[in-house]
Amino acid sequence: MEDAMLQLPKAELHLHIEGTLEPELMMELAQKNHVSLPYDSVDAIRQAYQFTDLQSFLDIYYAGAAVLQDESDFTSLTWAYLLKCKEDNVVHTEIFFDPQTHTARGIAFETVLSGITTALKRGEDELGISSKLILCFLRHLSEEEAMKTLDQALPYKDQIIGVGLDSSELGNPPEKFQRVFARAIEEGFIPVAHAGEEGDVSYITGALNLLHVKRIDHGVQCIHDEALMDRLVKERIPLTVCPLSNIKLRVFDTMAEHNILQLLDRGLAVTVNSDDPAYFGGYINENFAAMRRSLRMNDQQLKQLAINSFEASFLEPEKKAYWI
Ligand code: ADE
Ligand code: ZN
Repeated sequence: MEDAMLQLPKAELHLHIEGTLEPELMMELAQKNHVSLPYDSVDAIRQAYQFTDLQSFLDIYYAGAAVLQDESDFTSLTWAYLLKCKEDNVVHTEIFFDPQTHTARGIAFETVLSGITTALKRGEDELGISSKLILCFLRHLSEEEAMKTLDQALPYKDQIIGVGLDSSELGNPPEKFQRVFARAIEEGFIPVAHAGEEGDVSYITGALNLLHVKRIDHGVQCIHDEALMDRLVKERIPLTVCPLSNIKLRVFDTMAEHNILQLLDRGLAVTVNSDDPAYFGGYINENFAAMRRSLRMNDQQLKQLAINSFEASFLEPEKKAYWI
C-alpha cells in the first residue's frame, strides 16, 4: 500500500483465524489432507464468495475450515496471517479462534491451540508482532457445549486471554450464554462478544449487562440508541468495527453509508479490523483504504483510529503506552 499513513503502527482486535484461510491455502490443504471441496479451482472458490447475509457466509466459512486437520495446518494458517500483519504494520493482534468448529470434526482442542501458538511465538521472535488469543463460543450451539469448551480451555489459561461469542447472532441472544460467561470471568478470562452486527441494540445491552463484556465486536447498530451511545462513550467500551465485512454481509449497502466515522466523531472508541479477510476482500490496510476512498476519512481520523486500536487492546499498560 503506497500511502504512508497506512504504514502507521496499529493493532488488530477482531480477526477470526479461520477467516484468514486464503483460497490457495484451502486448495493446498484439501489436496494434502484428501478433503473434497465443492470447487475445482482457486478461482471457483473466490467466485463462491458472494454473500447475502451473515448466515450465507458462515455456511461457506465452516465448510472451508474442514481442510484444517493437523497441527501444522493451523501453524501454516496463522503464519500466513502474521506475514500479512507485517505488510500492513500490524504490530499487535488479538486473534479469535473457534475450537468447536474443529472439535466437532474430531480434531483435538490441543491440536488447534498448539498449532496456532507455535506460529504466534515465531511471529513474536522473528517479526516482532505481539499477540493474544481469544476463544470464541459458537452461539448457534448450546450452552452445554460452550461450557464443555470452557472446560477444555482451563488447562491453557495462560495462553488464552479472553472468551468471545460469535456465529449466528439472530435468535441466539447473550442471555443464552450468561452462565458460561460468568464462569469464564471467575476463571480469569476477559469477556468480549459479537453484538449489534445484524442483531438490534438489545444484543448490545445484553452483552454489556449480562455478559459484562469489555469490548463489543461490531456494535454498529448502537447508532439507533442515543442513550446506549452515551453509555459506550462514558464507560469507554470499545467497538471493534469491520468495515469491509459489513459491506460483504450487507449490514450496509455501500461503504459510503457506513457509520464508523459518525461513531468516531460521536466520541466512541471505535477501531478498524478485518474480521475474516480472506472472505471479505482484504486485510486491515484494505479496510482503511476502502474507508479512505468512500468516506472522506482524513489523516486525523485515521491517526485516531490507530491510537484507539492500542487503547482498546488487552496489552499490558507499559506496552500500550509504548505505542500510543
Ligand atoms: N464468525 C466469523 N466471522 C463472524 C462474524 N462476522 N460474525 C459472527 N460470527 C463470525
Ligand atoms: Zn467477527
